[in-house]
Amino acid sequence: MISYGKHFIDNQDIREAIKSLKSDYITQGPNVSLFEKKLKKKFSAHAAVVSSGTAALHLSGKALNWNSRDIVLTVPITFVATANTVLYSGAKLGLVDIDPRTLNIDLNILEKKLKLMQKKGKKVKSLIAVDYAGNPCDWENIKYLSKKYNFSVINDNCHAIGSKYKNSFDYAAKYADIVTHSYHAVKNITTGEGGSVLSKNLKIIDRIKNLRTHGLNYFKNNKKKSFYDMENLGFNYRLTDFQSAIGISQLKKINIFVKKRKEIANFYDKAFKKINNIIIPPVSKYNSHSYHLYPIQIDFEKINSNKKSFFEYMKKEKVLLQSHYLPIYRHSFYKKKFNLKEYPASENFYKKQVSIPIYYSLKKKEIAKVIRLIKNFVK
Ligand SMILES: Cc1ncc(COP(=O)(O)O)c(C=O)c1O
Repeated sequence: MISYGKHFIDNQDIREAIKSLKSDYITQGPNVSLFEKKLKKKFSAHAAVVSSGTAALHLSGKALNWNSRDIVLTVPITFVATANTVLYSGAKLGLVDIDPRTLNIDLNILEKKLKLMQKKGKKVKSLIAVDYAGNPCDWENIKYLSKKYNFSVINDNCHAIGSKYKNSFDYAAKYADIVTHSYHAVKNITTGEGGSVLSKNLKIIDRIKNLRTHGLNYFKNNKKKSFYDMENLGFNYRLTDFQSAIGISQLKKINIFVKKRKEIANFYDKAFKKINNIIIPPVSKYNSHSYHLYPIQIDFEKINSNKKSFFEYMKKEKVLLQSHYLPIYRHSFYKKKFNLKEYPASENFYKKQVSIPIYYSLKKKEIAKVIRLIKNFVK
């Protein structure tokens, strides 16, 4: 089977994991802080590793003190975790449609919403912007709006590890107050499950480190009465030492992973860009896309077909596709809270979008097979 995404673990990753497993520390050992140091160097920001991208978002909301009086905005085209973590803090979730030219948040619609809320005397506390598929948002303008309307910004950077904005690999923490990574298996680097929070603000990262381990502080001197004390209501969101060992080893390969993803994207771009009824993924001006996903849009109506038939046709040929994403407002849990008519760009995108295979170990003949099958289907 060829799937839309797949992890790549080599012998070096395995050796590092085994070394950690044979050591005295398999939960919180030296690899945890070493992974954080390596992340800091690579992304020019303080880092706290956690057990998943979801945990990273949850704790980011906690660090920003979201509560039931707050409004937090994000986009409908994202993984449910982005939206759910707003509700975990009791804050109110608002959605802003995507821009079909970038597949990221539409900044004109965002500003209209901010103005309208201002008029009504409501204030937006934070925005979670998603660098969808690995194509960074228009970060300079997000920063400008965040200053103008005074809200904090999280970059849900789970798809964009290894992307560049304005030539910089470490753009994310330059523009957003907090950045979240996921190291889930199909992401650009993996620790199995895992994630991290990055920020230029050391206080935020110290708070995340406290919250990931039950809100406990361990005292190294004897000025305090006890050896440890719970200061905040925290969680067990720790990443293990052996996962961190894999993370360090994977991070060394980020450039070759992204290079390969770009090569595959280049094959697909060339094959599909002149095909009627197929739209290839956009790359915004100033961006270097890292292609966590390769989302094509097929005009199923025009070819008298539908997404389901396409998925079945590909599955018969042993190619497993995925849809990224069912818009947040279409999930049963969220349906009653939102009106889908307010999100025409997301609706249109969802009808057409399909994620086709892209991952490090994908072979040339497999790429050729995917291209041949898709061309046959749309002709
Ligand atoms: C955009 C986005 N945000 C958050 C997450 C959550 O990450 P994790 O699966 O590591 O909890 C994902 C993972 O799929 C994601 O794609």
